Amino acid sequence: MFAALLVATSARAENGHAAWLRYAALPPDAAARAGAEVPRAIYRLGNDVTLQRAEDELKKGVQGMLGRPLEPATALPPSGAVVVGTLAAIKTAAPALAPSADLPPDAFWLRTVHQGNTSFTVIAGGDARGALYGAFAWLRKLSAGELLDALDDREVPYAPIRWVNQWDNLDGSIERGYGGRSVFWAGGKVRDDLTKAGEYGRLLASLGIDAVAISSVNANPLVISRDFVPQIARVADAMRPWGVRVAIAIDFGSPQSIGKLKTYDPLDPDVAAWWKARTDALYAAIPDFAGFVLKADSEGRVGPSTYGRTHADAANVVARALKPHGGVLFYRGFVYDHHMDWRNLKNDRARAAYDNFHPLDGTFDDNVVIQIKHGPIDFQVREPASPLFAGLEKTNEAIELQITQEYFGQARHHVFLAPMWKEALDFDMRVKDQAAPVKAIVAGRVFNRPLGGFVGVANVGDADNWTNNHLSQANLYAFGRLAWNPDLTPAAIAAEWTNQTFGTDPQVTKTLANLLLTSWRTFENYTGPLGLQTLTDIVGNHYGVAVEASEENGWGQWHRADKQGVGMDRSVATGTGFVGQYPPAVRDLYESVDRTPDDLLLFMHHVPYTQTLKSGKTVIQFIYDSHYEGAAAVATWVDDWRALRGLIDDERYQAVLKQLDYQAGQAIVWRDAVTRWFHHESGISDAANRVDAYPGRIEAEAMRLKGYQLATVTPWETASGSGAVECPVQSCTATFKYTGAPATHDIVVQYFDVNTGAAKYRVRVGDKVVAEWTANDRIPTRKIDGSSSSRFVVTGVALKPGDEITIEGMPDAQETAALDYVEVRPGVGANGAKGG
Ligand code: GCU
Repeated sequence: MFAALLVATSARAENGHAAWLRYAALPPDAAARAGAEVPRAIYRLGNDVTLQRAEDELKKGVQGMLGRPLEPATALPPSGAVVVGTLAAIKTAAPALAPSADLPPDAFWLRTVHQGNTSFTVIAGGDARGALYGAFAWLRKLSAGELLDALDDREVPYAPIRWVNQWDNLDGSIERGYGGRSVFWAGGKVRDDLTKAGEYGRLLASLGIDAVAISSVNANPLVISRDFVPQIARVADAMRPWGVRVAIAIDFGSPQSIGKLKTYDPLDPDVAAWWKARTDALYAAIPDFAGFVLKADSEGRVGPSTYGRTHADAANVVARALKPHGGVLFYRGFVYDHHMDWRNLKNDRARAAYDNFHPLDGTFDDNVVIQIKHGPIDFQVREPASPLFAGLEKTNEAIELQITQEYFGQARHHVFLAPMWKEALDFDMRVKDQAAPVKAIVAGRVFNRPLGGFVGVANVGDADNWTNNHLSQANLYAFGRLAWNPDLTPAAIAAEWTNQTFGTDPQVTKTLANLLLTSWRTFENYTGPLGLQTLTDIVGNHYGVAVEASEENGWGQWHRADKQGVGMDRSVATGTGFVGQYPPAVRDLYESVDRTPDDLLLFMHHVPYTQTLKSGKTVIQFIYDSHYEGAAAVATWVDDWRALRGLIDDERYQAVLKQLDYQAGQAIVWRDAVTRWFHHESGISDAANRVDAYPGRIEAEAMRLKGYQLATVTPWETASGSGAVECPVQSCTATFKYTGAPATHDIVVQYFDVNTGAAKYRVRVGDKVVAEWTANDRIPTRKIDGSSSSRFVVTGVALKPGDEITIEGMPDAQETAALDYVEVRPGVGANGAKGG
């Protein structure tokens, strides 16, 4: 009976909207153990709306996890209670319960106080927001089944700044957003219904994030116009109860484009007055407005260079408008020239942030924060920590981490980013030969700065589950947790997230721990190891594989692979000198080929393919091996996930299975493309002879074709064999004969799913149709290439020698039912993979 109940609960559909705040029923033993300490009443001190939210949350959480209510009390119940309020209020109303030391704003103290036979759970905040954070933290402990009887936990945020940026456009689209449409904007204005914005505020509050910039850094000047003030005020009202303040990204040309001034020269008094007037108007409507984010002189945005002014001139004119209101200006350090001459081996985009900002150190006002991407290029699969972190001693800094998976498979691939962020945060810059981890520098601890911290480019949209990929929620969670406390380990964060999001079943937690903690390395293994950066289409969609796309253009994401070798020489002695931007101890490490860690070798040096790594392998063999390892690892995730059937709800189980299976197919596309490209370029064979030798693979162009015509695929490495076939008429077929022994097999069909139509495919063995599907996935490309290359696996097909296998393609609109190859492989049985 009990087992049946459990199955019924776990099989209940969940769409992921509750994210990690599901408050699912604890398993009975944990409920009994942890629940024994939880009082039956709740006593809230104070009427602040944020405190009310804390009370609501506690009630909801206890009801959900323990299945019983917390009864509200109007006075301190002698029989015990959960007491929530500011520390000051608790000290006045219930001094015996108050912890002795003080609490700064946003901080909290969780205590269990025993008085005789009664116990009190005390949730004290440095302010109302701190109490709300405390409520969420206490619920997090309860969800993990932690023992609460001796609780005495004081938490102070590591840094004053814990923000997210949304790159939302006013039309509701999201730049580099994969979680649906904006929860803030639609049709050129703020959405009428801000329910989801408010719910998002709750998610942010649960992590301790206290501000959100709601418009894209590629700013629409309109956001600062008069009409938008009341609209932004509505967003602020929706977020405020959760202690989340609102900011916007602004366009530096606005004084001219919106204000109709003759200039936007930051040193022009009219321009300064204009910024002040616009800012005053915002604060009149939104007294707790958080500030502005500004991207200037970067990727086509206008900036101070128009007038020969400095970034400090630009930042300060806006910061001075914010200053009287306590607002902050985030000035983006992401400034570089995207028209660089690639032929000049001394040119280097990685140098740009430091070259632009280091000389200006000390000239920025004290409410300016330079927002610096974690690496010197642009959120690539692996980069060193930006040298600019150590290059500003008299300027506030924040680290910018990209939660949205622009270069990480765009939420179609699962990659948990916490391990990567953690490496950047922990990276020791050795300032003046003292320990100086990046996290401490940005928090203002190393150079004694008053402001600083963490900014995440968020991945949230209006998808039911916020991020489309259920597992991508973990990245928002991890960002928030690291922004609160960068000393947390990725493993601890992964466990917390899993407990709350998928429950505490040991197999679920074990599987997810592996899936989360190995995913960055795995993704790196199949997309660009050794510091190559993500080998994707960087002049296009930043999604699929395209090894040469970064070369021979001005964008500066060069890896400079040629026939002899690969990598960017950034050394001081012979290269671009980038390495010299680091403090001496780090510079010396990266300057030397021998000392540079393998993971970054090709980021720092150009070496021959035969260069031996510390592991003993050659560079070229490592490139081959890592890609095979990466693709194999994703295949294993699919199997591991399948074993969770029935242990988690079916809706999320199926959705994640489909996503992982797609990823497993894409990992093979990447594997084959990258290894073939390097094989071709280097002329050096893979020691294991895997490249261009695919057992069981039949190229479409080698099949018997009816209607189908040969098609060239660009870049060439993204199609197997010599290309693909496309159907120019209503229906085409590609047929081949099975020649193996009688057996049950899987038939893998590799086809192209572009976004300009919904072609249909059918697979027949003899006359019998064994599968049909429509290629209607939302893949970001119109071309047949590495992005659109997809697979459909028909499982468990009984084959005998002589069977004719036919793939029939029926184009739709601009989609040509293109086909790359078919693989017949040993079957994995009835539970095998399925889906495109
Ligand atoms: C990347 C991204 C852009 C974004 C830019 C930025 O280059 O592709 O969409 O605008 O970063 O951070 O400003």
